[in-house]
Amino acid sequence: MLRHFHAITIRDQLFSMITPGSTIGILGGGQLGRMLILAGRSLGYRFHIFEPSGPCTAGMVADHEVNAPYSDEAALRAFAEGVDIITLEFENIPAEVLDMLSAIKPVLPGREALHICQHRQREKDFLKENGLPCVPFEYADSADSLKTAIAAIGFPCVIKTAAFGYDGKGQIKLNNAEEAADTDYLWNFLECPPRVVVEKWIHHIGEFSVVCARKADGSKSTFPMSENVHVHHILHASIVPARITPATRDAGEALAREIADKLDVVGLIAVELFLHEDGHLIINEMAPRPHNSGHYTIDGCITSQFEQHIRAVTDLPFGSTELHSATVMINLLGDVWKGSEPDWSGLLRDPHVKLHLYDKGEARPGRKMGHFCVVGDDIEQTLASAEAHFKQLSGK
Ligand SMILES: Nc1ncnc2c1ncn2[C@@H]1O[C@H](COP(=O)(O)OP(=O)(O)O)[C@@H](O)[C@H]1O
Ligand SMILES: [Mg+2]
Repeated sequence: MLRHFHAITIRDQLFSMITPGSTIGILGGGQLGRMLILAGRSLGYRFHIFEPSGPCTAGMVADHEVNAPYSDEAALRAFAEGVDIITLEFENIPAEVLDMLSAIKPVLPGREALHICQHRQREKDFLKENGLPCVPFEYADSADSLKTAIAAIGFPCVIKTAAFGYDGKGQIKLNNAEEAADTDYLWNFLECPPRVVVEKWIHHIGEFSVVCARKADGSKSTFPMSENVHVHHILHASIVPARITPATRDAGEALAREIADKLDVVGLIAVELFLHEDGHLIINEMAPRPHNSGHYTIDGCITSQFEQHIRAVTDLPFGSTELHSATVMINLLGDVWKGSEPDWSGLLRDPHVKLHLYDKGEARPGRKMGHFCVVGDDIEQTLASAEAHFKQLSGK
């Protein structure tokens, strides 16, 4: 199912290493792009950012920033011509843009991987076709077919728009038939999307993720599995090492490696997992880029996910992903600001805390403004310390 010609194109162009001093183009200008640049800079690379929405957090640390819509072919062409390779920090790039750019410079992790991961239907079909464990699902493309899909899945379930969802946006959880009775209302509430997926709600005993880096020659490197805590569908904390059995850890890593190969990824793939109470892992979704649950690697691992991504797309050898400290990452959403800059003094006085702020300006509720990591020797103590800091910051 992978387009063979595309894989060959990437390999042919990439087997010559992109050496430090070269310029890497990044599509998307959010915090993931910012942290990619900060990591790649220390290896001596230069960075150009393409971000349609305007001046951005990644652009602040880039050598050059382009703000133009994806419909501006001249701007895209000039961007591609000014860099040696193109990667991304945001997967919702229109297919025709990827086609245009990849005719000029290699685009990594590759068009097919992006095409699959940017759409929940294609993602679910990929998992099913490859016999990978996923959540029971049905599709719908109208209020009527939504009714049929919900009836087939049963309760509780969750409706998700097939495209452009993130941080729980475009999702409705339904607990019973009463909540699902008026599908016209639900359909309008979701703004009449072209397509939705209806998924069974999984009564899991934990959420986990694995970030895997893969190079054009097929070699791979996985990061320690992260145990993730979500609040209102948004990641709140990552706990590493995850408190799981070695068998679960190995199974999660094996799934991530298999997916990286089957998608022919060059760069990173992050795989989100649910652990079912009977002990087996179910794949929730995949992201072909650095992932929020991998931020802990900056402070907890010898090589971060961001540096490993740069190494993968430039064909440098991988760095070690060894975890050198128990690490807990806590997201700082705009909610913590409450109209003014939080008082960071308590956090900064703790010498085991590393604070990362993205300088994004307006702190809207739910907006990812920064994160902090606490590093230590014992995961339970580290977690208690991280939660105490968060409580103090958020005034709870
Ligand atoms: N089928 C499901 N069963 C249980 N929890 C779910 C399910 N789908 C989503 N969730 C919860 O909502 C969160 C966000 O959903 P996800 O599909 O990962 O979308 P997003 O693209 O917003 O990250 C998940 O991490 C999980 O906590
Ligand atoms: Mg998710």
